[in-house]
Amino acid sequence: MDEEVNSQRLTVTVNGRVHTLPPAGAATLLDLLRGPELNLRGTKRGCDAGACGACTVLVDGLRVNACLTLAALVDGAVVTTIEGLPALAGGADGLHPLQRAFIDCDALQCGYCTPGQLMSAAGLLAEGGATSVAAISEGMCGNLCRCGTYPMIGAAIAQVAGLLAGEPA
Ligand code: FES
Ligand code: FES
Repeated sequence: MDEEVNSQRLTVTVNGRVHTLPPAGAATLLDLLRGPELNLRGTKRGCDAGACGACTVLVDGLRVNACLTLAALVDGAVVTTIEGLPALAGGADGLHPLQRAFIDCDALQCGYCTPGQLMSAAGLLAEGGATSVAAISEGMCGNLCRCGTYPMIGAAIAQVAGLLAGEPA
């Protein structure tokens, strides 16, 4: 990223709203989302080094680690964070089906990793990658959970992917 690009104002659509923001300099997308301009604190800072997935958001529909993405690179892009997830496919209760499934399957304990897990799961489903329990496990391998809720997270995603159809509730 050269200085010319980093010194330009940034126009980005976040959760359906267009924002024109001051030049981002060397800030990351995670800094931008959690900063005073946008104040979207649902996206978590875990390792801040691309290793945990807590900061996962969607950029133009694809999963990215916001801590590894220069904010300047999302100029013109569409960003979806956990705050915007319900609007992607809101159920009757105002939750995205993944959020409802996470609750139903007890797929969170402390909840710190959960926004990233949900956004990664949404990306995986959109990619068509949730074709089996093994594929879900592989597709979610970039999202760590210190509380060890992996089986329940996998079950929740499998439920939304329809992999559990026909099984007893
Ligand atoms: S905070 Fe971004 S991957 Fe851990
Ligand atoms: S629920 Fe605690 S880190 Fe995942």
